[in-house]
Amino acid sequence: MSLQNFLSALDSLKSEAISTLDSVKDADAFEAARVKYVGQKKGALRDIQKQMGSVAAEDRKSAGMRLNEVKQAIEAAVNDAQNRLGGGGGSDSDPTFDPTLPGVRPNIGHVHPITQTISHLTEIMGRMGFEAAEGPEVEDPWHNFVALNIPEDHPARDPLDNFYLATAQTGDERRNEEGSRLLRSQTSTVQIRVMENRQPPIRVISLGRVYRPDDPDATHFPMFHQMEGLLVDTHVTMANLKTVLRVFATNYLGGDVEIRFRPSFFPFTEPSVEVDFLWDGQWIEFGGAGMVDPNVFRAVGYDPEEVSGFAFGLGVERLCMRRHGIKDIRDLYSGDMRFLSQF
Ligand code: DAH
Repeated sequence: MSLQNFLSALDSLKSEAISTLDSVKDADAFEAARVKYVGQKKGALRDIQKQMGSVAAEDRKSAGMRLNEVKQAIEAAVNDAQNRLGGGGGSDSDPTFDPTLPGVRPNIGHVHPITQTISHLTEIMGRMGFEAAEGPEVEDPWHNFVALNIPEDHPARDPLDNFYLATAQTGDERRNEEGSRLLRSQTSTVQIRVMENRQPPIRVISLGRVYRPDDPDATHFPMFHQMEGLLVDTHVTMANLKTVLRVFATNYLGGDVEIRFRPSFFPFTEPSVEVDFLWDGQWIEFGGAGMVDPNVFRAVGYDPEEVSGFAFGLGVERLCMRRHGIKDIRDLYSGDMRFLSQF
C-alpha cells in the first residue's frame, strides 16, 4: 500500500470512529463502537496496524507516527464516551449497578462508653491530685487477699467466689500456696502494689477490670470495672475521705451531690463504710471505703504509727449507668451497635 493510501485510510477511520463514539447514546451502542474500533481481536485500529507492513520501508516511520496520533485520538474519544455515559460501558460493566442509589457510608468506630467513663473519672480525680496507677488482672493471693488483711478462712477467698487459674501445679485445693493465681476480684490489689514500690505521701487511683463468678443479670456481670482510690500521708482523717468523694460525685454526676456513709466492714479498712450518693431523691450505694487498716500498712512495710490514709472502691459501671440512665449492665457488653452508637 502506498503511504498516501495508508494515510487517507487512517484519516477516514479517525473521523468515522470519533463521530460514532461522540454520538453513542447508551451502553450497548458504546460497547459495539468500542469493539468495532479498538477491539483487541478485530478492531479497525488493529486491522490498519497490520496493513502498515505493506507500506514501503522508507515510509514506515511517518506512517507509524500518524498511526499513533490516530490511535490516541480514538482512545480519547472512547474515554470521553465512557465518561459521558456515567462510567458504564466496557465489557466488565455491571448491569445491576445503579449509580443513582445512595452510597454506603463506612462505619466510623468510637470509644466504648465504659472507656469514656474511665477517662472522665481519671480526669476528675487528676484535678484533685490523684495519679492513675495500674496493676495486673492475673494476680497472686498475696496482693488480692493476704496483704489486704483477708485471712485464709475468709469467705471472699472461697473458690466458688473467685476465678482461680488451675494449672498442673496449682489446682483449686492449692490455691493458697505460693505460685497460685487468680483473676483479681477487686482493684484493691493495686493499693498493695503501689505501696510496695513507693513511700508516702501517696495519692493514686486505679481503674480497671475485676472478675467474679456471678450470673449475669441487670446489675451483675462476671467482669466489671472498679475505681480504687488510695491516699496515704500523715494526719489523714475520714473528713478528708468524705470531702474527696463528695467533690468527685458532684463533678461526675452533676449538681451538689449529697453523700452518706453507712458503717460496714472490710478487712483492709478500719473503720469501714458503704458509700451512698443521693441521686434523684434516692440513696444509691456506689462502693466501699474506709481508713487503711494498720495491718495493711504493716504488710507493705509502712509504720502505722507514722502514717494514716484512706481508701475507696467504686463501681465504674454503676456510675456510668446512673449518669446515662442505663438500666441493664449487659447492654454495655452485648456489642449491639444500636446501643453503643448512642454514646
Ligand atoms: N474492694 C472492695 C470490693 O470490691 C471495695 C472497697 C471497699 C475498696 C473499701 C476499698 C475500700 O478501697 O476501702 O468490694
